[in-house]
Amino acid sequence: MNTTVETILNHRSIRKFKSEKLTKDQIHTIVKAAQQASTSSHVMAYTIIGITDENLKAELSAVSGQPYVKDNGHLFVFCGDLNRIYQQASIEEQSQMQESMESTEQFIVTTIDAALAAQNASVAAESMGLGICFLGSLRNDITRVSNLLKLPEHVIPLFGLAVGYPDQDPEIKPRLPLEVVYQENEYATDKQHALIRDFDNQLTSYYQNRSSNTRTDTWTEQMIRKYSHPIRMDVTPFMKDKKFNKR
Ligand SMILES: Cc1cc2nc3c(=O)[nH]c(=O)nc-3n(C[C@H](O)[C@H](O)[C@H](O)COP(=O)(O)O)c2cc1C
Repeated sequence: MNTTVETILNHRSIRKFKSEKLTKDQIHTIVKAAQQASTSSHVMAYTIIGITDENLKAELSAVSGQPYVKDNGHLFVFCGDLNRIYQQASIEEQSQMQESMESTEQFIVTTIDAALAAQNASVAAESMGLGICFLGSLRNDITRVSNLLKLPEHVIPLFGLAVGYPDQDPEIKPRLPLEVVYQENEYATDKQHALIRDFDNQLTSYYQNRSSNTRTDTWTEQMIRKYSHPIRMDVTPFMKDKKFNKR
């Protein structure tokens, strides 16, 4: 196995970092790796905001309710961004672009672009001996995050990425069986139940035996609980206010 695949297969989220900050060189290497991800039609529909102001970090940490948003080597916030394109256009061109900019299709483009960039950043960081944790918890109060970062229309905060030197060594979390997530030629529902039952048992044993935060749970129960309680329903009107996903 080559070292790139090894890095990817050894991924686990890190939620406790040493206090050492990333250097400018490390930050730039991670951002360059993010930028080199594939991007839909070369749109590069994202902006990455690095948070160096400790007060701002503390505010974002309060939104997320997670201390590692504040205590890390560096915090990146990944934003979907069609604003920079919009700003290049004349008033007349902007009105021609409006329908496309507000479409679900372009909303998907921005979220995919940002996610691909972030995953490249993560793999780069992990290959440099750093740990990472994605932070969807910034969407706990998406309007507040948007205001804190002074995001204009056509720019939306999607998630954070905490990066730093790991101060913990968590076990690798099991994934669904390959046969469940990779299928050939058609979608097969019927084979999934038995495989997922096995996975539930495997995950129960992982939760019971891991070195911290042990609990009794299965993947199925966790997912049904998750999708039975809608969260962050304010995200829908927020996106529309920002001129995304309106049509
Ligand atoms: C888009 C996204 C948002 C996430 N948000 C959070 C978060 O807010 N807080 C957190 O502790 N982990 C967060 N995670 C990490 C996931 O919980 C984690 O990747 C998943 O449980 C699998 O564990 P692993 O990364 O250790 O393999 C997020 C992951 C993704 C991809």
